[in-house]
Amino acid sequence: MSDETRPVAGGARTAAVIPAAGRGVRLGPGAPKALRALNGTPMLIHAVRAMAASRSVSLVVVVAPPDGAAEVKMLLADHALPGGPPSGSWGRTDFLVVPGGETRQQSVKLGLDALPAGIDIVLVHDAARPLVPVDTVDAVIEAVRDGAPAVVPALPLTDTVKEVTPTADGSPEPVVATPPRARLRAVQTPQGFEYATLVRAHETVTDDVTDCAGMVEKLGLQVVLVPGHEEAFKVTRPLDLVLAEAVLARRRANDGF
Ligand code: C5P
Repeated sequence: MSDETRPVAGGARTAAVIPAAGRGVRLGPGAPKALRALNGTPMLIHAVRAMAASRSVSLVVVVAPPDGAAEVKMLLADHALPGGPPSGSWGRTDFLVVPGGETRQQSVKLGLDALPAGIDIVLVHDAARPLVPVDTVDAVIEAVRDGAPAVVPALPLTDTVKEVTPTADGSPEPVVATPPRARLRAVQTPQGFEYATLVRAHETVTDDVTDCAGMVEKLGLQVVLVPGHEEAFKVTRPLDLVLAEAVLARRRANDGF
């Protein structure tokens, strides 16, 4: 990383932490999910590019599989923008790689610990959401700049959701409740935070949560939503890979016009 910490519009300095240490077992056997290729380029590289596409993001911290930090460093160097400095930076965006932990929460914490002084806004973005458009990234950053301690991109649900009592043996699960769909949202990443709020959340909340915003809620702070994007879906199952490649093909076709 260069020593220069770059000021951006509005005076806030923004870093993105990308937890990419999951094994991705639901995708089937193979390399860690973040290192699987989409159109020949690892998913993680797409995710890093999606963050670096925002002019506000001056640093990307990739949290690699615990035994894969060296491989991830090489991948980032291999995919550096032509003409950029040889390593540690893609043009105006610096990057760092740190080894991850057992859970997503631990991996994010390890990424936060690696941030240099002077960061005001932190985005946390799943490597598994490689195709988030830059407008969504910028909308999240802008809402944090406007004063929200935690901002989450989200979409209304198309499916009705049932709450159940899960059964361990595969027998039919009893339904407990049907929350009104109009009040539910499916949340995506990048989630954006005031740096100090996210650090406090990680220091004080020990409950098991599946997203960082949930930790901020537990601090009693107001989390707000901005519109998400259908292309920010999470690549989890084999069919998601097919969809992601179709999105990339559509983008290429559109770029051709
Ligand atoms: O498992 P899930 O799909 O919720 O993972 C979301 C993101 O968290 C993925 O990008 C995955 O690589 C990351 N993760 C991590 N460390 C773990 C588990 C998941 O960085 N131990």
